[in-house]
Amino acid sequence: MSNLLVTGGAGFIGSNFVHYWREHHPRDVVVVLDKLTYAGNLDNLASVNGESGFHFVHGDICDERLVLGLLREHSINTIVNFAAESHVDRSISGPDEFVQTNVIGTHALLKAARAVWLESDPPVHAHRFHQISTDEVFGSLGDSDPPVAETARYAPSSPYAASKAAADHLVSAYHRTYGLQTTISNCSNNFGPFHFPEKLIPLVIVNLLHGRAVPLYGDGRNVRDWLFVTDHCRGIERILQHGKSGSYYNIGGNNEWTNLDLVRKLCQLMDDAFAGDPLLCPRFPASPAAAGGTCASLISFVRDRPGHDFRYALDFSKCAAELDYSPRESIGVALSRTIQWYLDNEQWWRRLIDADYQAWVEQQYGAATRLASR
Ligand code: NAD
Ligand code: DAU
Repeated sequence: MSNLLVTGGAGFIGSNFVHYWREHHPRDVVVVLDKLTYAGNLDNLASVNGESGFHFVHGDICDERLVLGLLREHSINTIVNFAAESHVDRSISGPDEFVQTNVIGTHALLKAARAVWLESDPPVHAHRFHQISTDEVFGSLGDSDPPVAETARYAPSSPYAASKAAADHLVSAYHRTYGLQTTISNCSNNFGPFHFPEKLIPLVIVNLLHGRAVPLYGDGRNVRDWLFVTDHCRGIERILQHGKSGSYYNIGGNNEWTNLDLVRKLCQLMDDAFAGDPLLCPRFPASPAAAGGTCASLISFVRDRPGHDFRYALDFSKCAAELDYSPRESIGVALSRTIQWYLDNEQWWRRLIDADYQAWVEQQYGAATRLASR
């Protein structure tokens, strides 16, 4: 049995992981520590909040004393660190918060883990610090480059990717220098339920429903490898259970798409959804699909993201060979399920794009938090 501290567990992937873990390991204790920034949302945890074996703590991973207290109070033996500023565009307009949370925050967690697990009497021998990292630390690939393995050089492009790379190096240093038992996973672009509608897929879904332009950066030819979030959670589970301390593991989706093709696919799926459900027309009358048009008419090419990485692709053969990991979800089915989740959970995303909420977020976190679609 494990007692887990899941940092950033009210965000997109963190909350999916909490649901996954509660379903597959119901006897474990799960403590979520989350600052509830604009991206953190207690609604994501509504179905588990209040259950026995689950605790939510509102706080900052940079607060080392708070983390020390939680590790001791809940006899935590596993930390899974999802907490981060995660949006590349925001890191370009305001990098400070990324360095603070992603670098200083990860270091605060490492210091607390070292104090409680290695320096207490007796030490906690069976422990694990798992860092959630990203394929972005490897930098941009060309069209014909092979997918990158765990041994590839870190070459981050954006302030976001650089802050994640710095955090990974700290985790690795705590393993080598102090003997902290660590693992790091680098994964590709996730999608699925609870995805904040500033990121490409949920932004496209919400914009198509409102008849708003779908902004494609540059020529739309950039390539991302898409991974359904449940596959990612299963990969993390395998690493926590069977991964070797001190190791890095790539978790890829084997699903490379240009942004343009992905958006066209979403448009097609949305047209199909309207054709199959007459109730969608009165609910979303501004969508072109409601008037018999095609959602693809909303695609519009806009100024490129500065430093925009052309392509990411991960070689995850190590994870496959050592941990028997492979993604299970087919992209078509997973995208349809994701669209359906957004159709079924309008209240969830409606609040996030609401003008009052946006004004509150902007006041708390600054103008860089404005949703790109507005
Ligand atoms: P997200 O932005 O949806 O969620 C981040 C969560 O962290 C939020 O709940 C937020 O409130 C919380 N948080 C932020 N600062 C905090 C702090 N100082 N203390 C405590 N909590 C804080 O992010 P996500 O997309 O779920 O990503 C989760 C992790 O996975 C991140 O580390 C990200 O770098 C990594 N990752 C994400 C993807 C992806 O496709 N989304 C891919 C690869 C790696
Ligand atoms: O690759 C893993 C990374 O995936 C994670 O580490 C990040 O936390 C996560 O945000 C995501 O980063 P991306 O920059 O790849 O995701 P985003 O959804 O912002 O963009 C996906 C692609 O779509 C990218 O090439 C930029 C492009 N894009 C994005 C937006 C928001 C557009 O063309 N238009 C848009 O409006």
